[in-house]
Amino acid sequence: MKVVKVNLGKRSYRIYIGKNIIGKLSSLISPPTHDTPLFVVTNKKINALHGARLKKVLKLISKKILFYEIPDSEKAKSFPVYIKTVRALARFSRKTKPFVFAFGGGVVGDLAGFVASAYRRGVPYIQVPTTLLAQVDSAIGGKVAIDIKEAKNIVGDFYQPRMVISDAGFLSTLPEKELRNGLVEIVKYGIIKDRALFAFLEKNTQKILKHNQDALEHVVSRSSGIKAAVVAKDELDVTGLRATLNFGHTVGHAMEAAARYSGSITHGQAVAAGMIIASFIALEKKMISCKDYKRICTLIKKVTVKIKLRKMRPENILNALSYDKKFTHGFNRFILPKKIGRVKIVDRIPEALIKEAIEGAPI
Ligand SMILES: NC(=O)c1ccc[n+]([C@@H]2O[C@H](COP(=O)([O-])OP(=O)(O)OC[C@H]3O[C@@H](n4cnc5c(N)ncnc54)[C@H](O)[C@@H]3O)[C@@H](O)[C@H]2O)c1
Ligand SMILES: [Zn+2]
Repeated sequence: MKVVKVNLGKRSYRIYIGKNIIGKLSSLISPPTHDTPLFVVTNKKINALHGARLKKVLKLISKKILFYEIPDSEKAKSFPVYIKTVRALARFSRKTKPFVFAFGGGVVGDLAGFVASAYRRGVPYIQVPTTLLAQVDSAIGGKVAIDIKEAKNIVGDFYQPRMVISDAGFLSTLPEKELRNGLVEIVKYGIIKDRALFAFLEKNTQKILKHNQDALEHVVSRSSGIKAAVVAKDELDVTGLRATLNFGHTVGHAMEAAARYSGSITHGQAVAAGMIIASFIALEKKMISCKDYKRICTLIKKVTVKIKLRKMRPENILNALSYDKKFTHGFNRFILPKKIGRVKIVDRIPEALIKEAIEGAPI
């Protein structure tokens, strides 16, 4: 088992990563009493696949356990589901402060974390991520949120979990599409911060797609280490460091918006295209070598499925980008690679260059 610490003073916590480590949970947490209500937010599918393993170990911790299932879709990150969940939690833990568990992917994690942040002005919660994306990204760092019709993740908080337990065993049932979504974020970490991780992916993508547990454990622990270090230095996203985690996401979000979150492209596909476009801009600006640029394009193509750009015209993507900038800095801001392992924040990229990149980059 590997352990990564997120250093945040009194709010510090550990991320445990390994194969079949969920059984160790009872020795890692200590709720105040054997009657502490344990409220597990999950969905039907995850509960059916892996719920029994979690329940077995939770029974060693407390007598009072409830597995609460929310719908399996982004729509669960909504006020109606939020209210239902808070009310179920209130009924379940009338007298005693509960522990909340987020047992699932990023949807479950974001909703359960937001519920925990608000209920009784904050109760402890533990992330038990079951997707690759949640293990390397959403379960770490305390960003919790729900969506409204006007915007995604716009109602939320920074609320750190007490612990993250990332068991590679849960990933054995994860469909390829979801593995690829997580892989894109890992490529992102490689480009931002870790040349060795990038090289590991160049050699081992197929192993990961075949659910190889050792390879998964390795990439989850490296990625967790990178995210933990960034979060420790810029927890509230104010110094610009945490913003580097948005590499590929500026254009990626615009593409998702241009596709109107229709599901016609996945988040991973959009971010993959966004990373290629940002790298193309860096190449045009002579910030990155041609060799590193080509390696980036080749690896990204290996980890993701090509998107169909036909329906997504460059104007629509540019429109979505300018909509985004109104709500951020008043000008566009890109994270551009200087080489594999290092990025730089660059403001005010000319629109003509962005358009050229969207039209010309090999996405
Ligand atoms: N808080 C953050 O910092 C942060 C960061 C990135 C993304 N997010 C959020 O995360 C969400 C996306 O998360 P996601 O990609 O994990 O999607 P998800 O939670 O929708 O999970 C993807 C699918 O995989 C299924 N699943 C989960 N675990 C499984 C398993 N072990 N075996 C088989 N199927 C399994 C789920 O039921 C779901 O159908 C978005 O809402 C996004 O906004 C948050
Ligand atoms: Zn992402």
